[in-house]
Amino acid sequence: MSKVLGIGGSPRQNGNSDILLERMLKGVRDEGLASEEVRLRDYQFQPCIGCERCRKDRRCTGLQDGMQLIYPKIREAGGMVLVSPIYSYNMTALMKAFIDRLYSFYHFDDARPGHWHSQLENQGRKAVIAVVGEQSTREDGGMELTLETMRRSVLALGYDIIGELPVLGIFHKGKVREYPQVLEQAEDLGRRLASQVRESETRFRNP
Ligand SMILES: Cc1cc2nc3c(=O)[nH]c(=O)nc-3n(C[C@H](O)[C@H](O)[C@H](O)COP(=O)(O)O)c2cc1C
Repeated sequence: MSKVLGIGGSPRQNGNSDILLERMLKGVRDEGLASEEVRLRDYQFQPCIGCERCRKDRRCTGLQDGMQLIYPKIREAGGMVLVSPIYSYNMTALMKAFIDRLYSFYHFDDARPGHWHSQLENQGRKAVIAVVGEQSTREDGGMELTLETMRRSVLALGYDIIGELPVLGIFHKGKVREYPQVLEQAEDLGRRLASQVRESETRFRNP
């Protein structure tokens, strides 16, 4: 599992999320861990259709699409980075569709409301979340809400979140390049993530 998977949720090529994700993954590699980048816009996949076939099959069998290429990458990577711009006060539709498709990692019982647990939990998995938006305060443009929704989803899957990067006041494509201190923070988070993934994997191998 010694790898970090970066998930980019922006539809805009070479935009701020792409730049932040690249810098975080550079930090990961500088710390000696492998990285892989998935830009969701490059994959053809549908939102979850609620067919619930995953309850029985324990994996997504209802939709044979690009997510089937991403699922094994998630299983294999001990660390995950999620980056999304804010669209209309929350994550992009791409990132939301991706997160909904991770529903197939849950096991549910038949009670209502049901109990559930994640196939990915208790394995020492670590994650980082980054969000970029135009507005300049955390409350104004949906930063707080976006971080909260992404955070809850990642925690529910069984990851520890080792850091979050809210990037405010950035609108134009590539503008974040003009903020070297933000890029340095991104790189530093990547390094910290890599070192925690490595540490956690050593602990799980030698309990
Ligand atoms: C459809 C759309 C909706 C947006 N909604 C918000 C918003 O609610 N709050 C905000 O702060 N920024 C909003 N923005 C601005 C983007 O978050 C901002 O431009 C960001 O830097 C884009 O990141 P990217 O270059 O990675 O795509 C919106 C942009 C678009 C295109």
